[in-house]
Amino acid sequence: MLTRRLPNTDLDLSVIGMGCWAMGGLWWGDDVSDARSTAAVEQALASGINWFDTAPLYGHGRADEVLVRALGARKHDVIIATKVGVRWDGEGQHARSELTREWIRQDVEASLSRLGIERIDLLQVHWPCESDTPLSESMGELEKLRIEGKIRHVGLCNYDVAGLTAARQYVPIVSLQSPYSMLRRELEHELLPYCQREQLGVLAYEPLCRGLLTGKFSANKRFPESDLRARDDRFQGSRFLRALTIVSRLELIAKRKKVPIAALALGWAIRQPGMTAVIAGAKGPDQVLEHARTVEILDDDALWGEVDRVVAAYRG
Ligand SMILES: NC(=O)c1ccc[n+]([C@@H]2O[C@H](COP(=O)([O-])OP(=O)(O)OC[C@H]3O[C@@H](n4cnc5c(N)ncnc54)[C@H](OP(=O)(O)O)[C@@H]3O)[C@@H](O)[C@H]2O)c1
Repeated sequence: MLTRRLPNTDLDLSVIGMGCWAMGGLWWGDDVSDARSTAAVEQALASGINWFDTAPLYGHGRADEVLVRALGARKHDVIIATKVGVRWDGEGQHARSELTREWIRQDVEASLSRLGIERIDLLQVHWPCESDTPLSESMGELEKLRIEGKIRHVGLCNYDVAGLTAARQYVPIVSLQSPYSMLRRELEHELLPYCQREQLGVLAYEPLCRGLLTGKFSANKRFPESDLRARDDRFQGSRFLRALTIVSRLELIAKRKKVPIAALALGWAIRQPGMTAVIAGAKGPDQVLEHARTVEILDDDALWGEVDRVVAAYRG
């Protein structure tokens, strides 16, 4: 597995990290099982994937628990990236951002305890602040936790250039996590060039567009109510059909090259200038195996020229 240095850190991340959201068992349908998730983590390690992206919100702590149980003592050999700053009141309650100094500390302590580690390698603010907590308070508390040694590095998720620039006044930020895939490319407008210029790591989430870029869905696909894709307009109507047209073109290339479509989607994102790594969500080892095959084709320039032409034809 190819690794890349996260700028301004000593962390060498595999270009594919494993996303642990679905492992939490909430919002991803009825087919999540701890046994399958555990096997996915095993496969990730066997494939050279050396980092895992989790969050307190994912299954309200369950993703963390399944992850550390699966890793066992190996949790000290891998990189665990988690998040901070989201709060929920009960199972069915809407999650909201909270970035007060008290909640940040409490949330970090709870993560440390659930994960059974003394220091978090990369702590990322899950969403920008939605209340009136001053940025200086939130970022100041993160800087304190960093100096105390409870977190090694601080990253942000879902911030724009203005938010990122402002936050950096108070704490060294090393990475930005944002949505990015062949079907969702806003990152290229401002954020990716900014991060490249400022030497910030970029971690792409949803690189498979929630599974759409694996080729397994057809136009009549219906998701159960327990699956967030039942309410995602990328899986409905003409938008879904336009995406499926691109996927069918990718399928022709994938068949000829004898690689999974998922590998084309991940490889394309990994090769974008300024990209550090992608975070690929997986529910089972079969999916991780497909992700890992990306490394077979990363250097095939002719292939990527062809893939670029397909992607350029997509109008979201
Ligand atoms: N910071 C944030 O705000 C934020 C937001 C979203 C995600 N993330 C992070 O990014 C990670 C990745 O994003 P994501 O999980 O939302 O989307 P994703 O990686 O684009 O898609 C993951 C889903 O696609 C399906 N899939 C994956 N590989 C497959 C394969 N080879 N064949 C068939 N199906 C496959 C699986 O679901 P099914 O089997 O059910 O189809 C899997 O759960 C998350 O796990 C999380 O760690 C962060």
